[in-house]
Amino acid sequence: MKPRVLVSREVFDETLEMLAEHFEVESNQADLKHTPEQLAAALADKDGALVSTSDRIDGALLDRCPRLKVVANVGVGYNNLDLPALTAHGVMATNTPDVLTNSVADYTFGLIIATCRRLTEGEHFLRAGEWKGSHLKQMLGVDVHGATLGILGFGRIGQTVARRASGFDMKILYHNRTRLKPAEEAQLGAHYRGKHDLLREADIVVLLTPYSAESHHTIGAAEIALMKPSAVLINVARGGIVDDAALIEALKAKRILAAGLDVYENEPALNPGFLPLKNVVLSPHLASASEPTRKAMAATAARNCIAALTGGEPPNLLNPEVQRKR
Ligand code: DGY
Repeated sequence: MKPRVLVSREVFDETLEMLAEHFEVESNQADLKHTPEQLAAALADKDGALVSTSDRIDGALLDRCPRLKVVANVGVGYNNLDLPALTAHGVMATNTPDVLTNSVADYTFGLIIATCRRLTEGEHFLRAGEWKGSHLKQMLGVDVHGATLGILGFGRIGQTVARRASGFDMKILYHNRTRLKPAEEAQLGAHYRGKHDLLREADIVVLLTPYSAESHHTIGAAEIALMKPSAVLINVARGGIVDDAALIEALKAKRILAAGLDVYENEPALNPGFLPLKNVVLSPHLASASEPTRKAMAATAARNCIAALTGGEPPNLLNPEVQRKR
């Protein structure tokens, strides 16, 4: 009998074809969001799963899934997975790094430009029929070129954003748990700063750290207070890294100029305090959402699942200790 695999949210036909060569596949092509109870019930008799970053996989769920050998996350961020619990249950966990790096870096720049140059505010103004003609001081923004960019979290995506930034003649500051080697810093033209110095110096702060208990509310009222009143904050990483209530207060009081956000605390719920504010650009977690990239993410997850269930080494294994125990 073929191993049984659950695909928890809608994927591409080509992803299903890849999986169907090896497995009996149950896919949620209607894309209905499972409750935790429904997800546990659907996984109870499965050997593997492709899950979305909105599916929580924890110890309580795993207790009910005795056959499960692999959970392949369709996403690079995996704060939805309780990795220690997966490891304790002997379940391999994988993610989808690399394939989305360029698309997320592109989108980050889109959000930077949209926020600094008031692009969506201008569109709303136009659509509302309020444009009565151009004038010199109309909807003035701040420049992206030549600005000082501070990148918090300098992994693959952060470094790719830095490469884009050099084309905009920006000064690049970064903060990361591990500092790069001097030659790598020189190649990217990036200067290391402590977190507080970066917040004080940057015109544009981009958040690209993974979410964890440690990075919860990395940016709250105290950190915002360090930023320049003319600064712009961009979050394309995860909700929860920013204290949304504190950010709303700061935007209302013009403690910083503006924010561009693709991710939120408790998404898809959105703190309603953002909605009336003109100095925030909001998008619904789209940074990796180009068609080729989303197809590559799904294919990567499928390859990880296939490798795990056919005796191979999943290319993006997050808990290799599980495989070593087998
Ligand atoms: C990721 O891959 O982590 C993106 O945020 C998409 O969920």
